[in-house]
Amino acid sequence: MPSRINPSILAADFANFERELGRISTADLVHVDIMDNHFVPNLTFGLTMVERLQQVSPLPLDVHLMIDDPDRWAPGYAEAGAYSVTFHAEAAADAVGLARTLRSIGARAGIALKPGTPVEPYLELLPEFDQVLVMTVEPGFGGQSFMASTMPKLTALRDAVRGSGLDVWLQVDGGINEETIVTAAEAGADTFVAGSSVFNAAEPATQIALLRAAADAHLGAH
Ligand code: DX5
Ligand code: ZN
Repeated sequence: MPSRINPSILAADFANFERELGRISTADLVHVDIMDNHFVPNLTFGLTMVERLQQVSPLPLDVHLMIDDPDRWAPGYAEAGAYSVTFHAEAAADAVGLARTLRSIGARAGIALKPGTPVEPYLELLPEFDQVLVMTVEPGFGGQSFMASTMPKLTALRDAVRGSGLDVWLQVDGGINEETIVTAAEAGADTFVAGSSVFNAAEPATQIALLRAAADAHLGAH
């Protein structure tokens, strides 16, 4: 299975989202970072923006909720038509119940882990999720450096998914570029969020192709 490249519009021109979406049309999904100034010390936008992006985006939306109380707010993003809705394990009161709600609405359900959050408690819950997002930076800001210390979590996830028959995507987010994507792919990731490396490139399509080729060459190498 080939890798998925999901550019994060956190690194796009906030005054021109529709035009920016046109620059990444060769990507797989568009990653949409929702921050509430409580779960993380930064604020982006919310449901109204996602509803509008859903109308104009040629790519499916991969919504990453960095917010408190996702149990209350996440279903609205699924109802807006997001292809995947990922909430943080550290913020959810009932992660399994919320994932079931998201799936019942028709979205893929994702659970995200901050760098300091262990993966072990979630390994046996994998049938409840369609995606696990291993944060490779502290959530909140683009342009940070990739933390290789998070890679053992991907290896554990890949070992658990392999042979299980489950279709769980393993996503990394933060500091992904043409070098770090190799490390993440070798560790077991198959879905890669890249913000600054795509949108700061002169030709985002060229960078997307470069990232995809680097990942595909190293998928599951370990
Ligand atoms: C960080 C966000 C990321 C961010 C990644 O909290 O979740 O999606 O956009 O940006 P880069 O690729 O620049 O690290
Ligand atoms: Zn993100």
